[in-house]
Amino acid sequence: MPSLTAAASAAPANPLPPAPINAWQAFDGTRSTGRTRHLLSLDDFEAAARRALPRPIFGYVAGAAEDNRALADNRQAFDELALVPRVLRNVAQRDQGVTLFGTRYASPFGIAPMGIAALSAYRGDVVLARAAAAAGIPAVQSGSSLIRLEEVVAAAPGTWFQAYLPGTPERIAPLLQRVAAAGVQTLVVTVDIPVAGNRENNLRAGFSTPLRPSLRLAWDGLVRPRWLAGTLLRTLARHGMPHFENSFAERGAPILSARVQRDFAGREHFDWAHIAQIRRQWHGPLVVKGILSPHDAALARQHGVDGIVVSNHGGRQLDGAVAPLRMLPAIAEQAGSAMVVMLDGGIRRGTDVAKALALGAQAVFVGRPFNYAAAVDGEAGVAAAIGLLRAELDRNLAMLGATCCAELGPQHLVDRRAPWPLAHATASPPFDNPTGDTRP
Ligand SMILES: Cc1cc2nc3c(=O)[nH]c(=O)nc-3n(C[C@H](O)[C@H](O)[C@H](O)COP(=O)(O)O)c2cc1C
Repeated sequence: MPSLTAAASAAPANPLPPAPINAWQAFDGTRSTGRTRHLLSLDDFEAAARRALPRPIFGYVAGAAEDNRALADNRQAFDELALVPRVLRNVAQRDQGVTLFGTRYASPFGIAPMGIAALSAYRGDVVLARAAAAAGIPAVQSGSSLIRLEEVVAAAPGTWFQAYLPGTPERIAPLLQRVAAAGVQTLVVTVDIPVAGNRENNLRAGFSTPLRPSLRLAWDGLVRPRWLAGTLLRTLARHGMPHFENSFAERGAPILSARVQRDFAGREHFDWAHIAQIRRQWHGPLVVKGILSPHDAALARQHGVDGIVVSNHGGRQLDGAVAPLRMLPAIAEQAGSAMVVMLDGGIRRGTDVAKALALGAQAVFVGRPFNYAAAVDGEAGVAAAIGLLRAELDRNLAMLGATCCAELGPQHLVDRRAPWPLAHATASPPFDNPTGDTRP
């Protein structure tokens, strides 16, 4: 068994190629294939995926917990902020790239971890990871995935891995050893799932874990023949019954087995002592995902965590949980320069990315839209969606008077409901420096 230190440090320091940004390619649709040419925004992919996926699978991806309050607030929080452009600042040279954990990425957004992505698209995890690597953005493979992480990392070196802590703590170290041996550098530990969220909406859509075969499920598949042949039957023929491959060091349960529930249980007792254990055993960048309280951000910093994702799991866990964007400024303050602060939930436009960066995030992650893009047109679909978001952000930077992400700040935002307080709350009010230009 290789030592964790050796495996983590043996991985290349900067595995992703710098991707050229040509916003105009996305504007005129030349990046898209025939299938996605008509899709002009991330939300367009949702409607297309609804037509492409069986009802239970689409419901699983789109769904959230209980009354969708957290899901709705994720969008509402962005909508409550208006943007304040600055003008006449020569924005001819723009670079939206950011450096996270020593790696330069071409855009400040990545693909969030999503379980069972291989049911949305054939080899879904590989599709997402390869599209991200080709575009020079980070992708995080879910610990609840159906493709071995070794295969994904081989296809797309530099992919981050998200682990759910196994229910039996003595299984943590072997899992970490496996992840390190595969060449993963950045480990994400998701902590907002001590118990499963109340996904009654999944049940309404006909989806359950484990999947329970029924006439209804069969019918839902039959009426989506492209998915049936291109994703399900192709997977079964070439790879057999999908299993949860990455919950432990060894293979987990098949998706139809009642054992799935047992494998997912037992996470209630995890606490910061387990994060301390992981910190001792994982020598690459360690990210904790699912932080919403500044107190927990401070604890993460004290435990030597390198980065956090401010997240309510896309509204899929605690319904009514606060939108991550609302907590971002207080959490960024707690993190200081000790941790990389990232955010996910509800990002659908370049302007959403800009708002999160202006409030203190160094990067953001996008979930559902990239899952839909993979379902609609595989790797080409994900590339097209990345291209759209990148082009939007490039435009937005220009219109905000910024040439790079670091130039975005609270001076670019007002609260729609009370325009002035937010501007006055900035550390350096724009009025102190009439041009507001702090660039050299
Ligand atoms: C279909 C689906 C599966 C998900 N599975 C996981 C998972 O396995 N691990 C995890 O940490 N988060 C998971 N999430 C949450 C996402 O990583 C992310 O927090 C959320 O999707 C962001 O919100 P957005 O979809 O509005 O962009 C999942 C989300 C979706 C939509």
